[in-house]
Amino acid sequence: MNNFNYYTPTKVVFGKSTEEQTGQLIKEAGGTKVLIHYGGGSVKRSGLLDRIKKSLDAEQIPYAELGGVVPNPRLSLVYEGIELVKKEGIDFILAVGGGSAIDSAKAIGYGVANEGDVWELYDRKRTATGCLPVGVVLTLAATGSEMSDSSVITKEEGWIKRGYSSDYARPVFAVMNPELTMTLPDYQTACGCTDILMHTMERYFTNGGNMEITDSIAEGLMRTVMVNAKILANDPQNYDARAEVMWAGSLSHNGLTGCGNGGNDFATHALEHEISGMFDVAHGAGLAALWGSWARYVYRDCLHRFQKFAVRVMSVEESGTLEDTALAGIRAFEDFLHEIHMPISMSELGIHPTDEQIEELAEKCSIASGDKKGSAKVLHKADMLEIYRMAR
Ligand code: NZQ
Ligand code: ZN
Repeated sequence: MNNFNYYTPTKVVFGKSTEEQTGQLIKEAGGTKVLIHYGGGSVKRSGLLDRIKKSLDAEQIPYAELGGVVPNPRLSLVYEGIELVKKEGIDFILAVGGGSAIDSAKAIGYGVANEGDVWELYDRKRTATGCLPVGVVLTLAATGSEMSDSSVITKEEGWIKRGYSSDYARPVFAVMNPELTMTLPDYQTACGCTDILMHTMERYFTNGGNMEITDSIAEGLMRTVMVNAKILANDPQNYDARAEVMWAGSLSHNGLTGCGNGGNDFATHALEHEISGMFDVAHGAGLAALWGSWARYVYRDCLHRFQKFAVRVMSVEESGTLEDTALAGIRAFEDFLHEIHMPISMSELGIHPTDEQIEELAEKCSIASGDKKGSAKVLHKADMLEIYRMAR
């Protein structure tokens, strides 16, 4: 096993009606004036925004609002938020929504706490020295951004999607009421479940050494998410299934399922970020469309992990060679994706990149990763190109 740091400063407040505690939580965190940051309107339609404002009013905490965050959140709104926060003297950002609202809130927090153009952080030109405190009321179980160190932003000019990670941006608190996710379209629920699985899978398929306790947690998490994703596909109002998935989402991306593992892979994520940057598709569906092609391209270089995944997560009965078992595991996972109505190729996702666009995707992915990505197999531009081609 490898040495590791595990840092999870986020206070989790989980369960029914927990959003009523939001004002109190901001007060405890020392916030005196708040920016409420949210997306395209789901939080208004559900009445959640009004309940949150009531909770802030009860604690006499003043606030400003900035809605309009879109999936694959844009840099231009981040700039707007930075200006607003500076003008209003705001010292706390409350994200209400899914990963996009949270990531946009983190980017605003960086932009206020650091001199210069915030994009330079995402463009690897500088590193952050701080971030305004961010709190979260989560409405979509998917990205784990409510506990993660990461924020992913899309720059409209050139449609460049980049992530930046630092412990400064880990949210101070995360309010998680599984009931809030019951208004999600089925497609978003399935995308979320896929993303949650992938965050653990990216940490599972590595060649740098592993730890049994971490593997057992990871395998339990993956099995639990698959069982409950299938329940939600038929019964979206099932509270217990919503709760299992929501908590799994946070644990899957707060570092827990990678402790002691050497080298996170995250190649599927790197490949996907270019797809959602260029075609504006949902992140989880993009991951589903690429994973099988990535897996078939790399599995021989990480056979022991693919075999373990097949047997312990996908319940494949071992027969034939290790390769046969590994491939059966990959097929079984793709069958699961189909069961929850996720695509397993780009054409199923509804996008049809031209040869030039495939070249551009590989070029951008190679630049974003310094032409070296992955642990199951280290990928360079030619490998990325091949995987995109396979995923058509
Ligand atoms: O904008 P509104 O109207 O709120 O609608 C949203 C949006 O259209 C809707 N929605 C959210 N909660 C809802 C709801 N609709 C009805 N009822 C609810 N309770 O769902 C749509 C998608 O929301 P979004 O926040 O974009 O989804 P998600 O949470 O999947 O976030 C995706 C973004 O996060 C990034 C992705 O790349 C993508 O940009 N990621 C962030 C990570 C991180 N910070 O750690 C890690 C991930 O790997 C990922 O890259
Ligand atoms: Zn993800």
